Amino acid sequence: MAIFPSRKNQKSRIARRCEDDSVTKLRLKYAPYYYTFDRQEGTRVWREGKPYIMLSSNDYLGLGNHPKVVEAGREALKKWGSSTTGARLANGSRTYHTELEEELADFIGKEACHVHAAGYLSCMSAVATFAERGDLIVVDKNVHSSLWSGIHLSGATAERFIHNNPDDLRDVLIHEDPDRAKLLLFEGVYSMEGHVAKMPELMEVARENDMFSVMDDAHGFGVMGPGGRGTAAHFGLESEIDVISGSFSKALSSTGGYVAGSRAMIDYLRTHSKQTIFSAAISPSQAACALASLRVLKEEPEHLERLWKNTRRYKEMLENMGLDTWGSETPAMPIVLGTKEKVYSFWKDLLSKGVFTVMSVAPGVPPGKDLVRTAISARHTDEDLDKVGDALAYAARSL
Ligand SMILES: Cc1ncc(COP(=O)(O)O)c(C=O)c1O
Repeated sequence: MAIFPSRKNQKSRIARRCEDDSVTKLRLKYAPYYYTFDRQEGTRVWREGKPYIMLSSNDYLGLGNHPKVVEAGREALKKWGSSTTGARLANGSRTYHTELEEELADFIGKEACHVHAAGYLSCMSAVATFAERGDLIVVDKNVHSSLWSGIHLSGATAERFIHNNPDDLRDVLIHEDPDRAKLLLFEGVYSMEGHVAKMPELMEVARENDMFSVMDDAHGFGVMGPGGRGTAAHFGLESEIDVISGSFSKALSSTGGYVAGSRAMIDYLRTHSKQTIFSAAISPSQAACALASLRVLKEEPEHLERLWKNTRRYKEMLENMGLDTWGSETPAMPIVLGTKEKVYSFWKDLLSKGVFTVMSVAPGVPPGKDLVRTAISARHTDEDLDKVGDALAYAARSL
C-alpha cells in the first residue's frame, strides 16, 4: 500500500482556482480582449480579411512603419543579433544603450537616463528604487498599475490624493510628520482620462513639503511640450521634477522604457533597483527603433503637428455628438458611457463598422466611469476620421 495518497486525478487548489475563475470565464465568453489581428499597416489592422481602423493604439506619432525606424531596427538586428541575453550590470551593456540614454536624457532635459526592456519595468523601478520602508508616498489615485507595483515593492506607506487635485494633496499632508521622507507620485498625462497633470501646483506643494517628485510621462512624451519634449517641458519644469519615467511603446513606436533624473539618481538606481539589476537589457532592435523614432521626432515636426490637428478635429466631432470625453485635453480620448453594458454595446457597434477600440470598465476605471478608450494618431487620415465619425454616430444612436 502506498504511504502517500495518489494525486493523479486530483487538482490542486490553485489549479482549480484558475479553472473556476468567473472573471476569466466572462472575458472568454464576450471575447473583447486579446483580440488578435493577422495583419497591420499604419492605422489599419485586419482580422479574417476584414480591415479595421485602429482607434486605440498609442502610436501617437504614427512612426511604427516609418522607413527610418524600420531600417534602424533591421540594421541593429543584423549588426548586434537578437539580444544581449544578459543584464546591463553583468554582460548586457552595449554602446547602443548608452547612445540612446544620452540622447534621451538630453531631449528630456535631465542629466542622465537608464533604459529598460519594458516601460512597466521603468515606471515600477522609478518608484521602488527611491522610496523605502518608513517613507511616505503620496500618490494620485488614478495612476497606472506599474506605479502601484512600484509602491508595493518599495515597502513604503502610500496615501492617495483625489485625482489631479493639488488642494487635496495639500490636505493629505497636513497631519504628516514634516521630518518623514516623502515622495510625490503622479502622471504627466493620464492614459485613460487624457488629463494633463496640474504640474505647477503639484510641484508647489512638493516644494513646500520637501518632497521627492516622480512623474510617469508615458503618454506625455512625444506629445506634450515644445517639440514633444514632454509634460515637464510643457510647463518649463524639467529641472524641478526629480525623476521622469516613461515608455517607448507610445510615441516612439517601440517597446521598452526609461527613467531619467540627475546623474546621482540614475547611478543610485543602477546600484539598488532589482528590476534594473536582475533583468536582461533592452534588445538591439527595440533600442534602435526607439532612437530612430526620437530622431524623427526631432527632425520631422510635421508628425507632431498632424497629431494635434487630428486630435482637435476628433475632439470636436465627439463633442458635437454629445459624447462625454471626461475633459480630455490630449490624443488619449475616452468616451465615458457609465456602465459596462453600454460600453460593450458601443464597442461592438464600432467594431461592426470597422473601427477597433478598447473597453475599460470598473475596477479598471472608477465606478460610473466605464468607457471606451480611443486614441488619435498622426497617421489617421482625413478619410479615416470621416469613417470614424460615421461609426461613432451609428454607435451613439443605439445607446
Ligand atoms: C501610464 C503608463 N505607464 C507605464 C506603462 C507601461 O509601459 P509599457 O507598456 O511600455 O510596458 C503604460 C502602458 O500602458 C502606461 O500607460
